[in-house]
Amino acid sequence: NVPIRTICCIGAGYVGGPTAAVIALHNPHIRVVVVDRDQGRIDAWKSRHLPIHEPGLEDVVRIARDGAAEVRRRGDSATGEAIDAARQPNLFFSTACIATIKEADMCLISVNTPTKTRGVGAGRATDMAALEGACRDIAMHAKAGCILVEKSTVPCKTGQLIKDIMEAHRPGVVFPVLSNPEFLSEGTAIRDLMQPDRVVIGCESTISGHRAAAALANLYAAWVPRSRIAPIGIWSSELCKLAANAMLAQRISSINSISAICERTDADVGEIAKSIGLDPRIGPQFLKAGLGFGGSCFRKDIASLTYLAESLGLPEVAAYWQQVLTMNDFQRDRFARHVIASLNNSLRGKKIAILGYAFKKNTGDARESPALDVIRILLEEGPKSITIYDPLCSEADIRRELSVLEREYAVSMPDGPVRVVSDPYTACTDSNAVLILADWDMFKNSKPFTSSKPVTMAETYDGATPTDILHLTPNPKRATINKPPTPPRTPKLSPLSPDLTTRLLPEPPCPADCVV
Ligand code: NAI
Repeated sequence: NVPIRTICCIGAGYVGGPTAAVIALHNPHIRVVVVDRDQGRIDAWKSRHLPIHEPGLEDVVRIARDGAAEVRRRGDSATGEAIDAARQPNLFFSTACIATIKEADMCLISVNTPTKTRGVGAGRATDMAALEGACRDIAMHAKAGCILVEKSTVPCKTGQLIKDIMEAHRPGVVFPVLSNPEFLSEGTAIRDLMQPDRVVIGCESTISGHRAAAALANLYAAWVPRSRIAPIGIWSSELCKLAANAMLAQRISSINSISAICERTDADVGEIAKSIGLDPRIGPQFLKAGLGFGGSCFRKDIASLTYLAESLGLPEVAAYWQQVLTMNDFQRDRFARHVIASLNNSLRGKKIAILGYAFKKNTGDARESPALDVIRILLEEGPKSITIYDPLCSEADIRRELSVLEREYAVSMPDGPVRVVSDPYTACTDSNAVLILADWDMFKNSKPFTSSKPVTMAETYDGATPTDILHLTPNPKRATINKPPTPPRTPKLSPLSPDLTTRLLPEPPCPADCVV
């Protein structure tokens, strides 16, 4: 048995933070230190306003980071977990990467692995700079025998790259390398971590590899049934994460391709999804037609898979997976063009409201949002304004994502075409069209502007999907937008005042907008 007393988690992002917190929660005897070079992020993890929003995350962090006495003193734990009265803090956040690595028995590598933006393989290959940097720090400073765990999603055979880096800096010293891909989804990260379908642990077939895998399995066994902890080979483990994301994304592209056929016929993609989902061989998950997949993982992981296939001399395999991305782009493009067509093929002088920027509900992660592609296409038409409201994404994050459009559209200028606002009513005021681009319940369950007839595409989506276009009409019913399920960092929604109702329901500036 390899004793694990201190774990260093490198990378305090969407994976590193929640994963380390849950491991710490269930292993109170182990000291878990999350390190990051980003001082702002670490400061936020130490504060009462965590840098990422995940339902349940605050409770887990408070208990593990602050200990029982502090939680009781503040009386602010809402968790259903019974807290051991003697529980001491065992979760820490720090920018002291090297000092923490030096003490660690195990390093979880949870750094970002985006797509390369320049050089060989740009647009498809994985940018390994952050991972290599973290490995170099470990190689130079870790104790001999420290177990290295790949939590980041990486191309197959990255384990060999890590071993090579270790060998180059510390020849002859054994550092077991494990692959332990993370399958959590943003928005349900804590639930996914608390009750995982499976925990995959890939190791090399050596004595040190198996011992290291057993040590990691013991950590998970504190709360995950052993039957769900799957030991496999390290290369299979690395590849299975890419394969899982590719298969999930492929289902979305498949149903979206069917939605395109539905729009040319009188078939209803919602009915089709329901029918085929009843087949147990297919199942109902990931069969909702919509704007296509977004988020920081699916696109980059499929790109990585296609690049891997091509590098291995398998162009047919690469082309197969590339088509999943092509279909995703097609869907967004189609949606945006439909918006333009339904506004008489011109956005000049028109105001567009966008409700929901993040790629799905319950996350404030603004990365790789389908909204960005939609906005890009709409901006080509020169609208008067595009006003964005999202319950969780900060204005700074949205603007950072939009900065790729800066050169062409000056989106950051105060008098530029894009505004980010902190309430949905302001976003919708005087709009010619309201685009719902994320599946927040507050949008889905609301009945804004119900007297307008939805445009064709919205009908095809049957109102059941994240994507909808709603038109303001001269005489719509009173708009009601429900409260979000969790308190957002943005200002709370106030009840609709009569004054605001008036502002929300103007005569449309362009009468043609009502003709759909
Ligand atoms: P992120 O970008 O939110 O966090 C990564 C963090 O690592 C950043 O805060 C960065 O400052 C830090 N970092 C980079 N190099 C460092 C170094 N040398 N030393 C210290 N800190 C360093 O990324 P996220 O979303 O947490 O993803 C991490 C990995 O997990 C990626 O490989 C991703 O593909 C994978 N993944 C992500 C999921 C998600 O839902 N976001 C789900 C499953 C896997």
